[in-house]
Amino acid sequence: MFKSIRVSPRAPRMALAVAAVYADDLTLPPKLPKIDRQGRIALQQALTTPGFKGEAGETAFGDPQHMVLGLGKKAELNADQLRNIGGRLLKRLDRIAPGAASLIVAETVPAATLDSRTVGRAIGEGMGLANWRVDFFAGSATKNKPPHPALELSGATESFRKGLQYGLRLAESANYARQLAATPPNICNPGWMATEARRLARSHRLRCTVIDFNRAKRMGMGGIVSVGMGSKAKPCLIVLEHKPARVASRARGITLALVGKTITYDTGGYSLKINNTMKGMKYDKSGGMAVIGAMRAIAAMKLPVRVVGLLPCAENMVSDDAYRPDDIIAMYNKVSVEVTNTDAEGRLVLADALTYACRDVEATHIIDLATLTGGIVTALGHFCSGVFCNDDKLLARVQAAAESSGEKTWRMPLWKDHKEFMRAQHADILNSNPSRNAHPIQGAAFLAYFVEESVPWAHIDIAGVAAVEKDTDLFVTGPTGYGVRLLVELVQSWA
Ligand code: BES
Ligand code: ZN
Ligand code: ZN
Repeated sequence: MFKSIRVSPRAPRMALAVAAVYADDLTLPPKLPKIDRQGRIALQQALTTPGFKGEAGETAFGDPQHMVLGLGKKAELNADQLRNIGGRLLKRLDRIAPGAASLIVAETVPAATLDSRTVGRAIGEGMGLANWRVDFFAGSATKNKPPHPALELSGATESFRKGLQYGLRLAESANYARQLAATPPNICNPGWMATEARRLARSHRLRCTVIDFNRAKRMGMGGIVSVGMGSKAKPCLIVLEHKPARVASRARGITLALVGKTITYDTGGYSLKINNTMKGMKYDKSGGMAVIGAMRAIAAMKLPVRVVGLLPCAENMVSDDAYRPDDIIAMYNKVSVEVTNTDAEGRLVLADALTYACRDVEATHIIDLATLTGGIVTALGHFCSGVFCNDDKLLARVQAAAESSGEKTWRMPLWKDHKEFMRAQHADILNSNPSRNAHPIQGAAFLAYFVEESVPWAHIDIAGVAAVEKDTDLFVTGPTGYGVRLLVELVQSWA
């Protein structure tokens, strides 16, 4: 790991030169900026390394200053592939720890396939995401190596460097979200989150308001209050506002609310999680971490769109004060909910935040992200999130953002019938229908009772993508920061 990764306008002397080649065309890029004859010979030599095939992310050295990097087959190269290549390149560099590297990649990719800014951005994202590990809890017995000093990257064209810089900045905010997600529940509880949000607001010129437990009670936020009252660490609703000095013409009159489920720990409550399914539930705050990470990036980039982030925070515990199955709760919008299962808690805290987004924020568009159901993992696995949307235009924006950010999503149905399925005998609705069908859709259908029908809204269930169980090219085992890049890309569509 490097302490940081910087982009410099000029190739520093003694930098490692990295030239990209294709698996189905093992020739050096026609233009090799700043490479002398000796260097060209060294790169040529690297290409002849026995076994080097130019596969995506594969590397070989000609001499210690010259390396070739495989891009895989021409027809298969896209931004996703370039992110993975960036990730693998970072890990290779980690082993040799050069102070600087000059990348010759954009020169190899025809402009018709990808523009050089996109190439730089994808590589930057990949390198930035791969340059992260959970080391903030390293103790005296750690085996972690100390991080290398900063890595300085350069490339020949300005657009490539700009892309690289942008990708690295995005990754930084995703890594911020990952660090928070990895913070364990004995440290990160709702109060701790509120302190962190205030700190971020100060450093990034956001406005932060925290609706604490007592105020939430007075306001009638029965969902947040009920779910969180079983814990000594009382629940709260964190509000982070980005009010840009200039609003883009496309964004006039738009207020986007981003809502993230922030359950700092989900024991299931009295409907206790059994058979070791509780382990890992510190990641049940990942929706909120995606939102706070996105707010950080949106503020840092000064995007000309009004955005409000909402984090309903609670710890779902078992205690004398905890809510129970059979409780009937009056929610913030006065809908009454019969609790059938205290483990379906995410939708209860989100519901009040969604009402707050409609009523108090007067949002014109709402996106919520939540590790809401195990069912979405069964349905879609770890490949993508599930998106439920009441508006085709907003859905198209979300899908476009998912496509270009590489944080994939797939549409799920949400119809009137699904909403009717949530009806209760003794209250308006149930928090979970005891017939264990269509769980991810039940979650979305429940939430639909708390969003004004005229407001375009997308619910994204990220239970399958918030964390990975084994190392990949981009991610070490643990949180992925899923949603930060998707949300920033979405906001960019109005900027
Ligand atoms: N936080 C869980 C969902 C979850 C499960 C996230 C696995 C990540 C991995 C959520 O609060 C939950 O417990 N959902 C229940 C809903 C059910 C009780 C209606 C589920 O998915 O089983
Ligand atoms: Zn739960
Ligand atoms: Zn949960």
